[in-house]
Amino acid sequence: MPEAAAVPAALPAADTAPNALGAQRVLELAARSLFDVFNRTAMGTMVVDKAHRIVWISDGYKRFLPALGHAEQDFVGQRVEEVVPNTLMGQVVDSGQPILVDLLTNQAGTFLVSRLPLRNDAGEVIGAVGYVLLDHPESTMQPLVAKFAQLQGELDAARREIAQARRPKHSIASFIGSGAAALEVKRLARRVALTDSPVLLLGETGTGKELLAHGIHAASRRAGRALVSVNIAAVPDTLLEAEFFGVAPGAYTGAERKGRDGRFKLAHGGTLFLDEIGDMPLALQAKLLRALQEQEIEPLGSNRVERVDVRVIAATSCDLPAMVAAGTFRADLFYRLNVLPIRLPPLRERLEDLEALVEALGEDIARRSGMAQMAHKSVAPEAFDLLAAQPWPGNIRELRNVLEQATLMTDERVLGARHFAAALPLAGPGPALPAAPAAEVAPMSRSAQAMTAAARGDAPTAAPPQPSPASLLRPLAEQVNEVEDAAITAALEATGGNRVAAARLLRMSRAALYAKLARQPRRIVVTR
Ligand SMILES: Nc1ncnc2c1ncn2[C@@H]1O[C@H](COP(=O)(O)OP(=O)(O)OP(=O)(O)O)[C@@H](O)[C@H]1O
Ligand SMILES: [Mg+2]
Repeated sequence: MPEAAAVPAALPAADTAPNALGAQRVLELAARSLFDVFNRTAMGTMVVDKAHRIVWISDGYKRFLPALGHAEQDFVGQRVEEVVPNTLMGQVVDSGQPILVDLLTNQAGTFLVSRLPLRNDAGEVIGAVGYVLLDHPESTMQPLVAKFAQLQGELDAARREIAQARRPKHSIASFIGSGAAALEVKRLARRVALTDSPVLLLGETGTGKELLAHGIHAASRRAGRALVSVNIAAVPDTLLEAEFFGVAPGAYTGAERKGRDGRFKLAHGGTLFLDEIGDMPLALQAKLLRALQEQEIEPLGSNRVERVDVRVIAATSCDLPAMVAAGTFRADLFYRLNVLPIRLPPLRERLEDLEALVEALGEDIARRSGMAQMAHKSVAPEAFDLLAAQPWPGNIRELRNVLEQATLMTDERVLGARHFAAALPLAGPGPALPAAPAAEVAPMSRSAQAMTAAARGDAPTAAPPQPSPASLLRPLAEQVNEVEDAAITAALEATGGNRVAAARLLRMSRAALYAKLARQPRRIVVTR
């Protein structure tokens, strides 16, 4: 539509046929009325000549003049670029190409503008007309501008994801570490990858069980087929059976009427990763055992068994032998899963890998963030000493979280101890605490972990201030809430915001943790 300003010149000038003359006239009128419509609906109009001089402005345009710092008499007659910063009117005159929609920003504000060349009958450019279609487009076109920003953000994220997906990220080699303990984990992982037997990955929260499960799958003969994961802790108990074994058609009404494949079926030919196996309800453990032993499943509401070919990798941070002893985990299932156990050491037992981990995690944080201030940073030696002195109950996930926070704290290229101060519990003034000896913090023991977590909260270098008797003379419920909130915040920090792991650290049920989070959403700081 806006090109209409040039339409008459594009017509055959000397066409003598009467109806062609009529058409020429209609088009001229159309061009003029379009010009009038634009003039009336635009906030302002300006016309410049071939020498970029302003020859005319509409009444609407005049109200922008004070903001541009000019009176009408010293505006009209000037070269447009001298009085309207950032204008492209001159470019339109010189190139003869319209700029149909553009945002112009200068001291007068941001404007949605349109600029069209003006041509004579011979088609030569004689000037340009510029329309200010909207002033303050950022407010009047808010939904459009916001949508654009959102789509751009999604596009960037999708590009990052594609780049990520193309990387061979799930190899055993992506389990970073070259100390003896890490090398032994990788050696075992490569061995079990060659077999089809169940694998049991044991280790505290954040030690890399999921990462290693992906690595084992990728190194196995099933690498070309799916790796299907079920996080048992995240699926409500009542839905787990359908999730595992599927639902037969017609077993239910509504959405499930057509039936649904379970994870065993989806993993056919590939690997099934049973994460948080310690959270498996007892009632389902027998069915799972049967599926593992017989490689057969029976969908809910069906009386037919289906054969599946699935390799199972299970993972847990629970002390399964203790659960067997307590009667909460079936011994037969434990023995079936425990054919090839791999124990992943906690970070505090492999501090020799700290530097390599910091390097790899830092690179990953920078690459995934897409933010300039998250560019890969190095860590100063004194900061490494501080990191090595931490108990790391959340292990590598916690290390990653701390690194991310420190990276965000500063634009500096080298992270010093002070940049970690806010993210680390043992970063106060005075000598840092030595790392807890391994013997004191029994690996795999949840109670030991909980103690470590508790120690993080009340083991600063100076003695904690004792509450004064007066401050204790308040409603008990209020004080209990404060202590609970502090413990939940500490556990979430330690686990990088992983609520399932935090609940486990605090030895409370997921449901109870969620209820407390819902109760006091503002007082509990979730860092991620
Ligand atoms: N050895 C390692 N090298 C590099 N990154 C690691 C390593 N171990 C863990 N990570 C990273 O730490 C984070 C936590 O790892 P992962 O999810 O595998 O832990 P997990 O043992 O499954 O924890 P949870 O028991 O809480 O589920 C992930 O971001 C993972 O990539
Ligand atoms: Mg995990």
